[in-house]
Amino acid sequence: MTLAFFESSTRTRLSFEAAAKRLGAVTLLFTPTGSSVEKGETLGETFATIEAMGVDAIVLRHGVNGIHHEMSQNTSMSIINAGEGSRAHPTQALLDASTLLERLPIRARMAPLDGYRIVIVGDIRHSRVARSNVDVFLKLGAEVALCAPPTLAPDDDTMKGLQYFDCIEDACKWAHVVNLLRIQRERITADIVPGIDEYRERYAMTTERAQRYPDIVITHPGPVSLGVETDARVLTMSQSLVHRQVTHGVAVRMAILQRLLNPPTP
Ligand code: CP
Repeated sequence: MTLAFFESSTRTRLSFEAAAKRLGAVTLLFTPTGSSVEKGETLGETFATIEAMGVDAIVLRHGVNGIHHEMSQNTSMSIINAGEGSRAHPTQALLDASTLLERLPIRARMAPLDGYRIVIVGDIRHSRVARSNVDVFLKLGAEVALCAPPTLAPDDDTMKGLQYFDCIEDACKWAHVVNLLRIQRERITADIVPGIDEYRERYAMTTERAQRYPDIVITHPGPVSLGVETDARVLTMSQSLVHRQVTHGVAVRMAILQRLLNPPTP
C-alpha cells in the first residue's frame, strides 16, 4: 500500500500507516517533495509507476476536488480517499460516527443515530469534513444543523435545507453533539475571517461554554487551533471525544483496508 499525501497530515497519514501495519501490509511512503513530481511528472504517470511496482492500494490526499475519481478511471489499484480538497473526507466521517456510536447511549431506534441532534460549527464553506460528516450523520439517522459566520457558511448546494444557527449559544441549546471545525486558512484567499474575539464570542466552544453545557458531546477532527474554536482545557474534559476520535481512526481504517484488500469470500 502506498501513502501519497499532497497536503499535510498527521492523523490520517499515521493512522492509515498504523492500520496497514497491524494488518500485515507493506507500506510505501510517497511524498511529492523530492519526487519526480518536482520534475513535471503527471499524477497519472506517478500512479502508473507506483502500480508497476505491484502496489494494490493507494491512500491519496489531494487538494483538487474530483481527482480521486479521475485517477480511479485509469488504474487497477484501489484508491482510498484520505481527504479531497473541500469536497470529501469520507474516512474522517466514518471514524467520527464510530466514536459517537461508542459514546451515545443506545436507544430503541430505527437508525444508529436516530434521535440525536448534531451541529457542525465553524468554517463549513471550506471543509471537506463537514461535507462528508453531513452525508454520514444523515444516513445514520441524525438531525444535522450548521453554525457558521455568514462568510464561512456553505455557498454551494451540498448542504441545502439544513437548519442554520448564527451563534453557538443557540446551537448548544439544540444539540446533543457539537462537531467543531477549524478555520481552513490554507483554502481562504479573501479577507472573510472574523476577528478572533468576535469568533470566540459567537462560534467557539470555550472552556466556560463547555462547563455550562456539560451534557454536550464535543468532537473535532483535528488539528485544533487552540484559543480559536476551542481551548486546550476543553480537550481534556470528559465531554470531549477529540482524542478518542484518533483512536477510532486506526480501527476504522483497519476495517476499510480489510474490506477492500482482503474481502470475505462469499
Ligand atoms: N483530521 C485530519 O484529517 O487530520 P490530519 O490533517 O492531521 O490528517
